[in-house]
Amino acid sequence: MKRQRLDKFLAHRGFGTRREVKALLRARRVLLNGQMVTTGDLKIDPTRDQVLVDGEKVEGREFSYLMLNKPAGYISATKDRYAPTVLDLVPENQRARDLAPVGRLDKDTEGLLLLTNDGPLAHRLLAPVSRVPKTYFLRVDGEVTPAEQAVLAAGVVLDDGYRTLPAEVHILTSGEVSELLLTIYEGKFHQVKRMLHAVGKEVIYLQRRSMGNLTLDPGLALGECRPLTEEEIKGLKAWTRPVRQL
Ligand code: URA
Repeated sequence: MKRQRLDKFLAHRGFGTRREVKALLRARRVLLNGQMVTTGDLKIDPTRDQVLVDGEKVEGREFSYLMLNKPAGYISATKDRYAPTVLDLVPENQRARDLAPVGRLDKDTEGLLLLTNDGPLAHRLLAPVSRVPKTYFLRVDGEVTPAEQAVLAAGVVLDDGYRTLPAEVHILTSGEVSELLLTIYEGKFHQVKRMLHAVGKEVIYLQRRSMGNLTLDPGLALGECRPLTEEEIKGLKAWTRPVRQL
């Protein structure tokens, strides 16, 4: 990878403006390969050199890819005037410039949310033609019958007249409250809730369990995130090439 000035590297990894990075360095909070550095003009190789800020390793990769276990109460956006956003959950050492959620989970939805600053990848993952599968666990008020399961799986007409693509529906339990796994290959606004509305049901809890090759890491508590592994990144990129035939 190209060598880069340390101050520029830190600014690109989300540690603020060049001026803020300068202050960080002056405050003796940065170690480069185990040595304290107080000026930003040193050139580093981000893939080989180790940079620590306050003892935490700063990711060397050009792009950042994080898996977040989103809790309810956070908005899937980079800024909001009234509510905390998912970016507020990212620890300082994992922040990166232009980090943004790939798609949206509703404020009350929990589970897997990918955050990246790899704009082209995000764009391809969200493109309808990519048909990236997303699996949700949901609790629904009331019984879900096999007939409703079949209707959901075949595709339902939403409130705006749109007919959803075929989906996979597993009923885990059916009763006063039913539990389902639902896999969809598109991402219309409030899609899961609206699909259930179409069969007269109300979603009372929604969690995303997987997206493409990514599965929610059971080791991540609500509100925690971690960088994707190399294998997960490779798998994600592979998803965006072929167009799936349903
Ligand atoms: N479908 C919904 O209705 N809400 C979400 O957050 C995600 C999918």
